[in-house]
Amino acid sequence: MTAKTTQAGRRLRFEIFRYNPEDPESTPHMQTFELDETPYMSIFIALNEIREKQDPSLQFDFACRAAICGSCGMMVNGRPSLGCRTLTSDLPDVIKLHPLPVFKLIGDLSVDTGTWFREMVEKTEGWIHAQEAFDPDAQETRMDDDTAAAIYENDRCIECGCCVASCGAANVNEDFLGPAGLNRVARFAMDPRDERSDADWFEVVSNQDGVFGCIGLMACHDICPKELPLLEVYGYLRRKALSSAMSKRG
Ligand code: SF4
Ligand code: FES
Repeated sequence: MTAKTTQAGRRLRFEIFRYNPEDPESTPHMQTFELDETPYMSIFIALNEIREKQDPSLQFDFACRAAICGSCGMMVNGRPSLGCRTLTSDLPDVIKLHPLPVFKLIGDLSVDTGTWFREMVEKTEGWIHAQEAFDPDAQETRMDDDTAAAIYENDRCIECGCCVASCGAANVNEDFLGPAGLNRVARFAMDPRDERSDADWFEVVSNQDGVFGCIGLMACHDICPKELPLLEVYGYLRRKALSSAMSKRG
């Protein structure tokens, strides 16, 4: 289905969450702004226009404007979305914007996803573990095409945090690795260059903060703007955990 460009002469009403945690005078509230819709207007374009013409203090994040950097995640009418690729023509006249939950609020619509992702990477040791020292002159390690394609698929995560914000478990358990965390674990678990054993992976994910903390709502799978195969990730990790548990029992 092709996206609509605009609906004739619409006047849009933006209800935007405002709060600056750094300012003792500030209290959380909603503020309304009105704007004439233009063709192909995205939330990014609308927010920039509001900031330029109505309120320069409005805080929100954007960098690439092309669904690549992952910095513009926000709740758009209650759904975690990328502001740069959400067109107003796909939304009703009233557009409510909130910051993503789970992450630390910087101000208004801006949240700190970076700290959450760094902690997740440290907790899961999300990098290649190999005994052999890296030799820059050595030949590249060969890998079969299917494995390389599967790793690439998981590696497409832009760390926008939309899946984490949509996740019921991540919203109530701050230690839960979340869909993006489990995706990162799967990405390294399937990489033949990573020498961690099934038992090592078992320690990382086989608990309530890992793959068994998922309560199966699967909003993450529907929400992910990059359409990562998160359902398959959970299946893969659960099978891995099970086979490790079975081998422990002998
Ligand atoms: Fe964003 Fe998808 Fe990565 Fe989650 S898995 S952080 S929704 S790109
Ligand atoms: Fe980079 Fe939206 S601005 S993903």
